Amino acid sequence: MRVNSRNSDLIAKLRRENSDDTFGNPYIQKAKQLTGLLYTLEEIGESFPNIFQDNSLPIILEIGCYKGANVVELGQYNPNVNILGIEVRYKRVVKSCEKITKRQLTNCKIAIGEANELLGLIPGESITGAFVFFPDPWLKEKLRKNRLLNENFLKRLQSRLKPGGFLWFKTDDKEYFEDSLVLAREVGYEAPAPWPRELVEREYKSRFQELFISQGKPTYQAVMRK
Ligand SMILES: C[S@@+](CC[C@H](N)C(=O)[O-])C[C@H]1O[C@@H](n2cnc3c(N)ncnc32)[C@H](O)[C@@H]1O
Repeated sequence: MRVNSRNSDLIAKLRRENSDDTFGNPYIQKAKQLTGLLYTLEEIGESFPNIFQDNSLPIILEIGCYKGANVVELGQYNPNVNILGIEVRYKRVVKSCEKITKRQLTNCKIAIGEANELLGLIPGESITGAFVFFPDPWLKEKLRKNRLLNENFLKRLQSRLKPGGFLWFKTDDKEYFEDSLVLAREVGYEAPAPWPRELVEREYKSRFQELFISQGKPTYQAVMRK
């Protein structure tokens, strides 16, 4: 099923109305309470980029951050950057926030909502980079239109990136990888480009990357620069 921002809308409504009508779902209840760490799209629209303790640092988005393992590793070992993880599911955003709280990281936040919609709400040239690691590949031909990396997404992201900003893409789907590089070049990115060592001191393997490696499956990655 295509992802959407309905979960973000529900959390925003519960917070606005200070309601506990959480359908008996403990993750909805927790997500509602995580104000100041978990942002709804409404709150992102109102406050971004001023959501971190030090708002002078470059901002990197991690789109589809799952349960936040990569967000906290990045945040912990790269205190020179702010990381905003984006995810649509209640349990995954709550798990991400719990990891941030446990490590007391002030440079990591989470947003609940669909990534394309979030990009539409933030100012132009406000971010330095974005990670998209192992997005759903939509393998069937007629479902390819649902791929996250399509022309609209690449153009919108490009306009939100500062000059020289990057998109770091990883996938297990060779065709998705090759199609995305071609599309990125058509849209005007340098692709592939050198990875941003000046911002991220080393590569971190995402959970899905580790899973594919443990299964002996090949993975593909490239950095694309504005
Ligand atoms: C296949 S998992 C990969 C997770 C992680 N990036 C990794 O590499 O381990 C894709 C994740 O992206 C999320 N996701 C998919 N489409 C999204 C979108 N348009 N906006 C935000 N999150 C999305 C899914 O809920 C899921 O958690």
